[in-house]
Amino acid sequence: VSGAQPARVFTFAGGDAGAWRVVGMTRVLGDPLPEVSRVSVTAGTADAPAKWRLRGITSNERYVTRDEKGQLVAKQQGLGRPESTRAALIPIRKTAAWWALAQDERRRIFEESSRHVRIGLKYLPAVARRLHHCRDLGEGEPFDFLTWFEYAPADAAAFDALVAELRASEEWRWVEREVDIRVVRA
Ligand code: HEM
Repeated sequence: VSGAQPARVFTFAGGDAGAWRVVGMTRVLGDPLPEVSRVSVTAGTADAPAKWRLRGITSNERYVTRDEKGQLVAKQQGLGRPESTRAALIPIRKTAAWWALAQDERRRIFEESSRHVRIGLKYLPAVARRLHHCRDLGEGEPFDFLTWFEYAPADAAAFDALVAELRASEEWRWVEREVDIRVVRA
């Protein structure tokens, strides 16, 4: 394996250490997570002491079409922008019924019905994102996805509007657990 490959596994650890200070933790659906004061984001499988540790792996896309991918690549920016001092970690678990669907059924719900990409594109490049998959790491992961977003303070209200739009969509009827953790780099 070449050392030049970018990291794909990331660990989000909640506790009293880390670059991100927690300013809000909201249980949206299902079980909450224990409250913490800071979150650290580490490439690899960090195992420093923490109240909870969530791991996910970046992967190839499942749903986007060539045309959507082109639009995303043209508009999106990367993580780590100096002005992106706000972030959200939103771990999500979908239902067993979702995972029992076929690929074409999931795509129809994700985009033709819910307009996930169409909605998301409106918020680029203000919001930068990285999607981590958990199911591919093994059994017993508490969430299916760890979603991570970074933005500037001036875009915080827009981010709230984005989240509200997505939560009102058909796709979210297939979500059974969601915790919304807002952090600031400080
Ligand atoms: C910044 C705007 C956003 C854009 C451009 C965007 C774009 C995307 C795209 C393209 C995918 C599909 C990747 C694939 O083909 O596999 C995706 C998946 C996903 N997004 Fe977003 N998204 C945005 C915001 C959000 C927000 C705010 C949330 C959570 C509240 C979210 C949660 C998810 C989840 C859970 C998935 C995985 C869905 C699945 O595979 O079942 N996204 N997003």
